[in-house]
Amino acid sequence: RAAHTPTVKSVRKDSQTKKLINGAIMNNDFLNKLEPQHLREMVDCMYEKVYTEGQLVIQEGEPGNYLYVLADGLLEVFQNGKLLGEMRPGSAFGELAILYNCKRTATVKAVSQSKIWALDRQTFQTIMMQTTQARHNEY
Ligand code: CMP
Repeated sequence: RAAHTPTVKSVRKDSQTKKLINGAIMNNDFLNKLEPQHLREMVDCMYEKVYTEGQLVIQEGEPGNYLYVLADGLLEVFQNGKLLGEMRPGSAFGELAILYNCKRTATVKAVSQSKIWALDRQTFQTIMMQTTQARHNEY
């Protein structure tokens, strides 16, 4: 890896946690199109956040700077104040604003205290850059 390439911070996780995050990503039709190398680094760099009952994780219409995987708890998804559905552990979400630079398409609220793995946009972009750089160096 070139000395000037920015590095990302990895967070230690047990194999069960990695499995849960990876499964959630592979179940997401947008995220599972990314390169396996990208996905491995994403799983590695996610860090834990806890949301309390009633707290908003995502607010519709706002810019979005994180993508998430629900590990424990229960979430509700709303659009224009209308309940669209629930999200259970093993779901990845918040990918649309990160991948497509759009505003948040829905509101996501914690119904109960929820443990969520998060990846920030800066780290996501650094991961994409690093692997592109690494491949570029191979040729
Ligand atoms: P994003 O738009 O970044 O932020 C809101 C997230 O809610 C969105 O990404 C999706 O991950 C998720 N989402 C959007 N629409 C729905 C839906 N109809 N049902 C479940 N989840 C949704």
